[in-house]
Amino acid sequence: MYERDKSLAQGEELRFFLSFVANKEMNVLEPMCGNGRMLIPFMQEGIDIEGFDLSVDMLERCREKCVDLNLIPTIYHDKIEEFSTDKKYDLIMIPFGSFSLLPDHLVAKSLENLSSLLKENGKLLLTIMTTSNTSEEIPNWAQTNRVEFTDDTIIEWKKVHYDEHENTLHTTIKYVLMRDQTVIKTETMNFRVRLYEENEFDTILSRNGFPNVTIHEVKDGYGFGRSFDVYECMTEKAL
Ligand SMILES: C[S@@+](CC[C@H](N)C(=O)[O-])C[C@H]1O[C@@H](n2cnc3c(N)ncnc32)[C@H](O)[C@@H]1O
Repeated sequence: MYERDKSLAQGEELRFFLSFVANKEMNVLEPMCGNGRMLIPFMQEGIDIEGFDLSVDMLERCREKCVDLNLIPTIYHDKIEEFSTDKKYDLIMIPFGSFSLLPDHLVAKSLENLSSLLKENGKLLLTIMTTSNTSEEIPNWAQTNRVEFTDDTIIEWKKVHYDEHENTLHTTIKYVLMRDQTVIKTETMNFRVRLYEENEFDTILSRNGFPNVTIHEVKDGYGFGRSFDVYECMTEKAL
């Protein structure tokens, strides 16, 4: 159901990430590419992009979608803190706050690894969840989205708890698939997202090889009225 709700990136979010691809000679890498939500629209634009993810299931969804679209993805099963290749990239991007899923002890190691994968003038784009742009707690189940398909409807319910000591948002999402007023299937997901304070992530970046950072606020990127911050980072090599 996550797949049906979040199949392919589009609109403002997609336009924003595509705007960093100056030409088709650029090599792009998407760590944590998941089900190919962003990777596939990039491939459809003829961009040379590779991706990797920890989840075999997510990579399988990506491959299935590519078969339907007659595309052959270059995707690997790997971890952001360990991925290695002889290749260097012009652009590395992690949309949708995926980087904020990483526990604190993997952050420095992952940034160091990403820095080693970039060309000298390469750029890293990271969508980061901050305390200023992330929604408040939802103590009781609340309906947060509804997607209508020809026969079915998916209703998203959410509960959110913020742990101030760990600066972590604990979210439970329940997707309910309905057909003719009847529940066909329910799927529940739990995840923890690290929320960064203002300037906190800039400091982490500069300590781990990315001293030059520009923050972009992308408005209406995940739907009207919702905005998120993308950190555009250059390595020390580029300065
Ligand atoms: C919310 S999904 C987002 C996928 C994609 N970035 C997008 O924009 O749709 C987060 C993804 O991060 C992956 N992931 C989590 N920890 C990871 C790690 N340490 N290394 C690689 N992938 C990881 C998960 O398997 C999942 O597919």
